[in-house]
Amino acid sequence: MIYIAPSLLSADFAHLEAEIKRMENAGANYLHLDVMDGLFVPNITFGAPVISALRPHSKLIFDVHLMIQDPIRYIDDFVKAGADIITVHLESCADPRAALNAIREKELRCALAISPATPVEQLIPYLSEIDMALIMTVVPGFGGQKLIPETLEKVRTVRRYAESHHLKLDIEVDGGIKPDNIHLLTEAGANIIVAGSAIFCSKRPRSVIASMRETAAEHPYKK
Ligand code: DX5
Ligand code: ZN
Repeated sequence: MIYIAPSLLSADFAHLEAEIKRMENAGANYLHLDVMDGLFVPNITFGAPVISALRPHSKLIFDVHLMIQDPIRYIDDFVKAGADIITVHLESCADPRAALNAIREKELRCALAISPATPVEQLIPYLSEIDMALIMTVVPGFGGQKLIPETLEKVRTVRRYAESHHLKLDIEVDGGIKPDNIHLLTEAGANIIVAGSAIFCSKRPRSVIASMRETAAEHPYKK
């Protein structure tokens, strides 16, 4: 099954509650929440207090993508705020395993992300310890960028590894994904699709999500 995760980064920040309802009505599975600190990435978004304020207003799975330096310092805050999945970046952790353990200890789904410049080989040793791998398909920091085609091979490598090692692993992809290129990601083996601008900036998010789902179903993982 393919899960569609609209990224709140492209929402109208003056009306977050209404924007989340709009995504629920449009058929989203997850709500992707991009937390940026202006240090690990050159942009600042929102933190745990905003997520905590939104939590009572939605039943969507809160998929929190931490683009912050030393995320281990804030794991408890995001757990308390109501995250269901927490993703940390391999590049931002002094000790990635310690951060992943801190997430797992709280019985949340734990995930590890790599940016486009990071070789996929660095992610492989962690695959048996995580619930989800996030392969960034743009350089993290901003919505509305173009997908970097070279990242697709990483998705394929991770899916192949997961299959050959019998790992039940979700593969999330994030950045520049739209109805006209989603097939590249699902064919490569991704099953959780983040899309910000393509969904939020549309007047008809329901038809965007439906068309993404339809195309994804027509283009399953190709070995
Ligand atoms: C980028 C963020 C993405 C971003 C995706 O750093 O992690 O989640 O919002 O936005 P689009 O789909 O517009 O590329
Ligand atoms: Zn993201």
